Amino acid sequence: MQISGAVALVTGANGGIGSHFVEQLLNLGVNKIYVCARSVDKLNSLVIIDPNRIVPIELDVTNLESVTNAASQCQDVTLVVNNAGTSLNQGLIAASDIDSARAEMEVNYFGMLSMCRAFAPILKQHGGGAIINILSLLGKVNLPFSGSYSASKAAAISMTQGIRAELAVQNTLVVGVMPGTVDTSLAKEWPDPKVAPAEVARAALQAVVDSIEDVYPGEQATQVSAQLLSDPKGVEKYMAGFLPGMVLAGTNA
Ligand SMILES: NC(=O)c1ccc[n+]([C@@H]2O[C@H](COP(=O)([O-])OP(=O)(O)OC[C@H]3O[C@@H](n4cnc5c(N)ncnc54)[C@H](OP(=O)(O)O)[C@@H]3O)[C@@H](O)[C@H]2O)c1
Repeated sequence: MQISGAVALVTGANGGIGSHFVEQLLNLGVNKIYVCARSVDKLNSLVIIDPNRIVPIELDVTNLESVTNAASQCQDVTLVVNNAGTSLNQGLIAASDIDSARAEMEVNYFGMLSMCRAFAPILKQHGGGAIINILSLLGKVNLPFSGSYSASKAAAISMTQGIRAELAVQNTLVVGVMPGTVDTSLAKEWPDPKVAPAEVARAALQAVVDSIEDVYPGEQATQVSAQLLSDPKGVEKYMAGFLPGMVLAGTNA
């Protein structure tokens, strides 16, 4: 699929990675881009970049009515970027209750699923198009420091595989993007190294052009995804070492 001439939609467009998607989509020649945020006021600085091509949409992905309203306003979309996400940085046992785990599941799993369901028929009408789901390397291996976030991304990875199979018949490309740590506010409490948000957007959009289904942007994601194939238990133990008070496996840190 070519990005030039596409009609794109980006959720969480005001966020760290989302705003880079908007900038790059414009540079790659989209005809129109729907930029979505929970509050349209947060989109003002984006819209002024190119008011002729940028259309602000109020969207909370956890609210089905909001998702349905967005779909009815955006009937010409050919490329959906499901970027909205949240991390509340809670352990699974250490958290005082399971509210944060539910909240992360609502945004990162159910919200993304609702978006895929609402926009699949629209993409079909336009010949298939593409969906980019922003997932995480932490969906492949749990970081116990953010254990419930990791679990929500694992659910989203599985969901992405399922919708990819279901939508193949309508010729919709479904790209799953699994970055390591990205330099945005969501990861401000997470340890380095961090990949630039612009690189995540670039790699995801290139995958659409090249019809690549699974993307691991940045050196950390590339290396860890390879280690997960060769030594999954070793990676699990390494991630466990990032819990406060734990000793990193194999180091004196
Ligand atoms: N940063 C990382 O290390 C990292 C690594 C791997 C994957 N990711 C994923 O990358 C995506 C973008 O995150 P980011 O790093 O750019 O963080 P960010 O700057 O915090 O952006 C997150 C965006 O999601 C939006 N959002 C949250 N809940 C929403 C909801 N219910 N409905 C609609 N929008 C909602 C936020 O809007 P508000 O401003 O209204 O809160 C914000 O625009 C997320 O899916 C995240 O899980 C991030």
